[in-house]
Amino acid sequence: MVLIAPSLLACDYTRIGEEVADVEAAGADWLHLDVMDGSFVPNISFGPAVIKAIRPRSKLFFDTHLMIRDPIRYIKEFAEAGCDNITIHVESCFDPLAAVNAIKELGVRAGISIKPYTHPDVVDKFLTIVDTVLVMTVEPGFGGQSLIPHTLENIRAVRAKINACGRDINLEVDGGISAKNAKTVIEAGANVIVAGSAIFGATDRAAAIRKIRG
Ligand code: DX5
Ligand code: ZN
Repeated sequence: MVLIAPSLLACDYTRIGEEVADVEAAGADWLHLDVMDGSFVPNISFGPAVIKAIRPRSKLFFDTHLMIRDPIRYIKEFAEAGCDNITIHVESCFDPLAAVNAIKELGVRAGISIKPYTHPDVVDKFLTIVDTVLVMTVEPGFGGQSLIPHTLENIRAVRAKINACGRDINLEVDGGISAKNAKTVIEAGANVIVAGSAIFGATDRAAAIRKIRG
């Protein structure tokens, strides 16, 4: 089963609560929450206060993608805001395994993410603990970019590793995904698809979600 996770980064920020309710009604499985600090990535988005505010408005699985330096500093705040999963970047700190362990100790699901030019072998040591591996298909920082074709190799490599390890781990992909290329990333091994502009930018969001699901 392929899960669809609209990225709130592409919503109308004057009506965040309604936008969340709208994609939930349109058939979204998860809500993808892109947190950016202006240091790990060259953009600033929103933080735990916004997530806490929308939490009572939705039953969706809150999938938080932390694009922030030294994420361990803020993990407790995101857990308390109501995140169901917290994903950190392997490139964002000296000891990402400690951050992943800290997430799990708070009773929250944990993910590890790799940027497009990070070698997929770095995920190996996380496979005994994480619930999700997030393979970035664009450079993190902005919505509306085009998928970088070589990232399909990263998806295939991570799929082989997940299958070999035998644990039930999601393989999530994020960046530049639309109905046009969703089939390709699913065939490469993804089972959770993040899409921002392709869903929030569509007039018929339910149709957009159905088409991406395939
Ligand atoms: C990029 C974010 C993505 C982004 C996806 O740093 O992690 O989640 O919002 O947006 P689209 O689908 O428009 O590429
Ligand atoms: Zn993201």
